[in-house]
Amino acid sequence: MNASPSSPLGTSRRAAPVAEPLRRHVASLLAARKPGFALPGAFFTDEALYAAELEYIFGRHWLFVACEPEIPEGGDYRTFQIGPWPIFIVRRDDGSIGAFHNTCRHRGSRILQQDSGIAGATLQCPYHRWTYDLDGRVIDCGATGEAPAAQRPLKPVHVKTLAGLVFVCLADEPPDDFDDMARRVTPYLAPHGLARAKVAKQVDIIEHGNWKLTIENNRECFHCAGHPELLCSLFHFFGEIDEQRMSAPERAAYARYQSARQETEAIWRRLGLPWQCIEELHGRPTAFRTERLVLDGAGESMTADTRVASRRLLGDLSDARLGSLHYHTQPNAWFHFLSDHVLSFATLPLERGRTLVRSTWLVHADAQEGRDYDLEKLTSVWNATNSQDAAFVEETQRGASSPAYEPGPIAANEYMVELFHVWYEERLRAELEL
Ligand code: FES
Ligand SMILES: [Fe+2]
Repeated sequence: MNASPSSPLGTSRRAAPVAEPLRRHVASLLAARKPGFALPGAFFTDEALYAAELEYIFGRHWLFVACEPEIPEGGDYRTFQIGPWPIFIVRRDDGSIGAFHNTCRHRGSRILQQDSGIAGATLQCPYHRWTYDLDGRVIDCGATGEAPAAQRPLKPVHVKTLAGLVFVCLADEPPDDFDDMARRVTPYLAPHGLARAKVAKQVDIIEHGNWKLTIENNRECFHCAGHPELLCSLFHFFGEIDEQRMSAPERAAYARYQSARQETEAIWRRLGLPWQCIEELHGRPTAFRTERLVLDGAGESMTADTRVASRRLLGDLSDARLGSLHYHTQPNAWFHFLSDHVLSFATLPLERGRTLVRSTWLVHADAQEGRDYDLEKLTSVWNATNSQDAAFVEETQRGASSPAYEPGPIAANEYMVELFHVWYEERLRAELEL
C-alpha cells in the first residue's frame, strides 16, 4: 500500500528507505495472519517483527504518555523510554507543554535521569553541564564554545493535549488525523475536567507478555468472569447481544442493564453529555473508540460498592450516576472517565515479552484524601483487575510461544481484538509500503 500522508491510511514521512529483507519478513508474517483468528505465535516471539513495531508503530503514531496533572507546575517533567528513544515532557511557566528527545546535544547523555521531577526554569545535563531552556535552546555550554552549541537545540518531539491527556509522536511528520479525533472526542471528555484534577495514585506493573497481548486483553471482556471485583460495576454487553444464548444470571444482568440504561440515559440527556458510540478502531492512523456506558448497581463508579469513591465530583459535574465513559486509542491506551475519578492506562513495550502498564487514578484537585476519598476504595478494583490481567497476558505469552500453538477463532464479543489486528496490519503495510 502506497498512500499519501493526507489519505486516511496515510503513512508518515520516513527518514530512510526500509530495508528490503525487513519488508519481506514482515510481509510474510502478515500474510500468515488469518482474519477472524488469533495472531500466529511469531507475532509474539519474533524479535525482528518487534524491532519493526518499535520503529513503525511506536515510532510513527500518536502515543498517550501522561495526564496533564502529572506535570501541574512550570518546570515539572516526566521522562519516558519508547523503544530506543528516551524522551521527556516538561511544563513551561506559561502552562504550555514541551516534549524533547532526552539526549544531550553534546555527547549524548540522558539529561533528565529520573522518572519525574522538577527541572526549574532550565535543564542541565549532569555530564558536562550543558544547559537548555524549556524551549530546548542551549543557553550555556561551559568551555565547549557557544557558537556551535547554539546550532544544537534539543530535538523536539511532537506533543498534543486532548482534554487533559498528553500524547506524543516521534515521527518527523506525525499522522495528521489527531485533531479530527480531538475535535470529536473532546465534548465527551471535557466535562470531566481532567486538567483540573490531581493524581491520587499511579501504579506501574510489568506484564510478562508482548504488548499486543496487553492491548488484545483490554479490547474484550470475554474473559471478564476472571474479574469478580470489576464485575460488581461493569456490564459486559458488547457487540451483538443474543439473549437466547444467555444463561439465567446473564439474562438477569441484561434486564438490569436495560433498565439502568434507560435511567442513566435520561441523566446524560438532562446534563447534555454525549454518549453515542464513535468507533473508528481502524481505517485511520489515529484510531479510537469512545462511548458512555452504564454501570451496574448504583451505577456511579468502578468501585466495589458501585458508589463514588470521591464525594468531590470532577469538573462541574453535578450528578454521581453517570456510568463510565470509555475511550480507547490505538496503539497504547485506554481510559475510564467516571463522575468522581478518571482512570488512565498507558502501555509501552519494554522488550518483546515485557510490557509496562501504567495506571493512574485522578480525582478533583480539591478532593482531600481521608476527607473526600479513601485511596483503598478508589484503587482496589483496578489493582485487582490489573493483576488478574497481568496473569492472563503472561500465561498467553507462554502458551502462544509453544510450537504447538495454533491460532483459534475470535468470537463475536472479541470483535475489538480483530479490529486491533486490522489496524496493526494496515499500519505496518502503510508504513513499510507493503
Ligand atoms: S553529554 Fe551532556 S553536557 Fe556532555
Ligand atoms: Fe481484563
